[in-house]
Amino acid sequence: LENGSLSIIVLGASGDLAKKKTFPALFNLYKQGFLLPEEVHIFGYARTKISDEELRNRIRGYLVRNKGASPKDVEDVTNFLQLIKYVSGSYDGEEGFRLLDKEISDNEISKHSAEGSSRRLFYLALPPSVYPSVCRMIRHYCMNRSDLGGWTRIVVEKPFGKDLDSAEQLSKQIGELFEEPQIYRIDHYLGKELVQNLLVLRFANRFFLPLWNRDNIANVQIVFREDFGTEGRGGYFDEYGIIRDIIQNHLLQVLCLVAMEKPISLKPEHIRDEKVKVLQSVMPIEDDEVVLGQYDGYTDDPTVPDHSNTPTFSTVILRIHNERWEGVPFILKAGKALNSRKAEIRVQFKDVPGDIFKCKKQGRNEFVIRLQPSEAMYMKLTVKQPGLEMATVQSELDLSYGQRYQGVTIPEAYERLILDTIRGDQQHFVRRDELKAAWEIFTPLLHRIDNGELKPLPYQPGSRGPAEADALLEKVGYVQTHGY
Ligand code: BG6
Repeated sequence: LENGSLSIIVLGASGDLAKKKTFPALFNLYKQGFLLPEEVHIFGYARTKISDEELRNRIRGYLVRNKGASPKDVEDVTNFLQLIKYVSGSYDGEEGFRLLDKEISDNEISKHSAEGSSRRLFYLALPPSVYPSVCRMIRHYCMNRSDLGGWTRIVVEKPFGKDLDSAEQLSKQIGELFEEPQIYRIDHYLGKELVQNLLVLRFANRFFLPLWNRDNIANVQIVFREDFGTEGRGGYFDEYGIIRDIIQNHLLQVLCLVAMEKPISLKPEHIRDEKVKVLQSVMPIEDDEVVLGQYDGYTDDPTVPDHSNTPTFSTVILRIHNERWEGVPFILKAGKALNSRKAEIRVQFKDVPGDIFKCKKQGRNEFVIRLQPSEAMYMKLTVKQPGLEMATVQSELDLSYGQRYQGVTIPEAYERLILDTIRGDQQHFVRRDELKAAWEIFTPLLHRIDNGELKPLPYQPGSRGPAEADALLEKVGYVQTHGY
């Protein structure tokens, strides 16, 4: 990391995201020595009038996740919390932001007047409705003004709008205040270990290069399941639904990395150029290639309207109109309150032509990348059943991270992404044109759901979701394999 003072300002400091994700990620970076106490100042900003100490107490319980914190952990927590100061103010008035600027500047000056630049990272752990005013206030009152250089960057979280028009409007408002290289749009799926591994897998392995296309691949599934409902977040969720919450961003980003062409280099702009091309090649979604669901009991939440039409489950088929993928369905599936918690990519290969073993009914070759829980990748393949008979059986080549990389701690998505924002690496962040292309794909479908033209089917909490979703998979050619 460069020299100089680094100020990290978490706006919305007492909210859920800040407590559960942002501060714990900062703490982990601090513990590992990425945020050196001599150079970093952390500020919380929010409307509530509380003291530094009160903010620290609110955060403390979230920093060490496992109960049995060691004495070293306790010491680290105490030292980390001492770095945090709190400033209260509104999100649209200059007073609070002037005060914030003064606090930041005083700390920069007291410790680093002659040593280096001033770097200011504003993390907006806030609802998007206040992004424009907060960005304006930062732009007017809180920018880095050091003669010795440095930067000001902002980090924003989804939802970036609700459809194409609102997202474009938001982008325009922020774009008038900050340049694209200053804006970091987080999609935390891009910070997951196995998502980051996709480029390496695809482009550093001879195995995959000749197979990764319509000649060999029958279909690709990208699946997100959660085994809990919208508990405590019903109000937010009902406004957005599963497509805006998971599919339009997290699953679509994964699709881009699975489907994109090889970038000309690893430069963030080259990678993002290729992702945009994939998104722009996605065809309009067909009505008969969508299944929506809503789990029974969803509307019991007092913050959810009784007759809500919001889907908590959806399977959507995307079709990429290009030379590599024509005819290959990309099945995006996400659901809350299902029977398990899992996120995975499942690439199913076509049948072997001229099958002399008659082993087709055992299933097809599949390459599965499990993003969570228990990161793993495995290839399902047909082998000879050990023994005297010439029988075949489905088996797997298995790379489970827990076994292969014992003792290696896999960093949390937010940890890496925050480090990237400090380092100025935008590879794992969503560019403005990517965002636009992503909304273009889903906006017509979302409008039809919002208008009540398409209705979710009921499903039992703890089930696989509506049976119609499995039927759709079969219709587009997914062959259920056995043993998994
Ligand atoms: C968030 C969604 O973006 O991702 C949540 O808003 C969801 O609804 C969460 O639970 C899932 O993240 P992860 O990392 O637990 O898969």
